[in-house]
Amino acid sequence: MPSIHALLPALALFAVSAQAANDPNSYAETDKVRVTQLALDLHVAFKSRQIVGKAELSLDWRDKAARELKLDTRDLAIATVEIIDAVGKATPAKFSLGNADKILGAPLIVTLDEQAPKIRVSYATNPNASGLQWLSEAQTAGKLHPFLFSQSQAIHARSWVPLQDTPTVRFTYTADVHVPKPLRAVMSANNDPSLAVGSGEFHFAMDKPIPSYLLAIAVGDIAVKSTGPRTAVYAEPSMVEKAAKEFEDTEKMIVATEKLYGDYRWGRYDILVLPPSFPFGGMENPRMTFATPTVIVGDKSLTSLVAHELAHSWSGNLVTNSSWKDIWLNEGFTSYVENRIVEAVYGREQADMEDVISQFGLKQEMAELAPADQLLMLAPLTGRDPDEALTQVAYIKGAWFLSFLEQRFGRATFDGFLRGWFDQHAFQSVDSDTFVGYLQKNLIDKHPGKVKPEEIEAWLKQPGLPATAVAAKSARFDKIDAARADWQAGKRDAASLAAAKWGTLETVHFLEGLPEKLDTKQLAELDAALHFGGTANGEIAQRWYPLTVRSGYTQARPAIEKFLIAIGRRKLIMPTWEALMATPDGLAFAEGVFTKARQGYHPITTTSVQAALDKAKGKAKS
Ligand code: BES
Ligand code: ZN
Repeated sequence: MPSIHALLPALALFAVSAQAANDPNSYAETDKVRVTQLALDLHVAFKSRQIVGKAELSLDWRDKAARELKLDTRDLAIATVEIIDAVGKATPAKFSLGNADKILGAPLIVTLDEQAPKIRVSYATNPNASGLQWLSEAQTAGKLHPFLFSQSQAIHARSWVPLQDTPTVRFTYTADVHVPKPLRAVMSANNDPSLAVGSGEFHFAMDKPIPSYLLAIAVGDIAVKSTGPRTAVYAEPSMVEKAAKEFEDTEKMIVATEKLYGDYRWGRYDILVLPPSFPFGGMENPRMTFATPTVIVGDKSLTSLVAHELAHSWSGNLVTNSSWKDIWLNEGFTSYVENRIVEAVYGREQADMEDVISQFGLKQEMAELAPADQLLMLAPLTGRDPDEALTQVAYIKGAWFLSFLEQRFGRATFDGFLRGWFDQHAFQSVDSDTFVGYLQKNLIDKHPGKVKPEEIEAWLKQPGLPATAVAAKSARFDKIDAARADWQAGKRDAASLAAAKWGTLETVHFLEGLPEKLDTKQLAELDAALHFGGTANGEIAQRWYPLTVRSGYTQARPAIEKFLIAIGRRKLIMPTWEALMATPDGLAFAEGVFTKARQGYHPITTTSVQAALDKAKGKAKS
């Protein structure tokens, strides 16, 4: 049996040197020195929109000749750097801040006479820190108190803490956090739901080693409601009951995942529901998932988001991609596990529908990507912003590859294999080569004749979808396809479609199967019967509004404007922004809306919309 390595000689030959190479998205020289422990002392100042703090870094020197420590920073003001010796005595250290790179930020270079066990940096963040969003009172649901939240993935931790901002490095942390008195602070660490707030002082500890992108903080008028023995939801008071109801199955999901892949190793699993400007659906901050409120639609139809973020407790937080080119090890594995959780808790039909929708989204996005970006194993992201390199390929092609392996080796065998992968690499940062080696040894060699090396190679190293990809199917969606065809042929009216009372996923599938454009009469009929305009469901809005824009149905514009101003979750709003920008008239409308919307947007969302605008204007000129 020829091995994958025989077919992919580059993989085998360069495996060792690839591991030793530094992450191109960080200044850290991880072969020389690594941070092992971080002690933070943070003052959260809402008036000046700054965190003013100290970061004490414990160092593990790997190269005995090294006398320099390079940390990542972005827009940080560094006040002092001190050396802390073995007995805790502080002396000033020589340091300089290098030139700022647009993507990487600026290196903080500390020059030492001898290798110090600890370094302490005193610093302040910039009011426009890329990893923080400061919301005014008016931008919250309660309107009484300001709100702050972080989003560190991929390389934004450096905008609020000076550190080695690469997932190659893992560290434990503690934090003393000082906030205005009535507010609550939470972090990706131990949070006590029964804690009385009011002192303005919080202490946190994360005793498991984590990568920097999992550092997280939020501060605001945050209430708590328990949903199980080790789960709770945190949210603004007006949101917390609804959130607790929507996420009431979280403990069931944890139990289902433990059955498949072994113990949940992080203690509690809590969810913080953020204001609608949160730029993502969810973020797997350990012990405290951050989530968009846009999935709280009242019928639990979008709680696969929780399954996804929970799954990261195994794929991502426990076994972590060592640099961002290998993000499919985080997101692809997680999307696969997510679907297994959905199947276990909500049944096969639900899981199948989600698979069909995901695969549709992958094909759509992949059609627009350069071949090099259609690979699971990407080239190093040198000179690239990892946020912009993230696509459905990592998520859905990644998950599809694991489903392919499951189909070939059988579920029981594959489940054991995946559990072993998590167990044997727990609290480690790994790259694709490590996975390929593990796959060869623990699955392919043990069960010869099930897959051919070239089949594996097609999945990992070739663009597009391999011939071995089996498309997901859903019987419920077959019915939706028939209903859609009947409506298009004039055999059914929209009122009869409405009477069928579809769930979110059925409606999404109905919309995805419609042609590029509809005529005004058709759109008005759907709108009247199914109330798509002004829908509170972002998954529906994300598909309906671009259809109206492509079709020139300008009646939808007031609702579009409201939607783009109210919601900051990138995935939901970018399709509508992009559809608008495709015509000169739409572009002008979009620019007008953006001047209003951007005030409420997170820096990450602003960057995405601005980039799309620049691109559209470039096209309009040429
Ligand atoms: N870890 C990601 C979010 C992320 C990835 C942020 C890369 C920054 C860089 C998170 O787990 C995620 O994938 N969220 C999804 C939701 C999910 C249900 C697919 C999202 O935000 O859309
Ligand atoms: Zn994810």
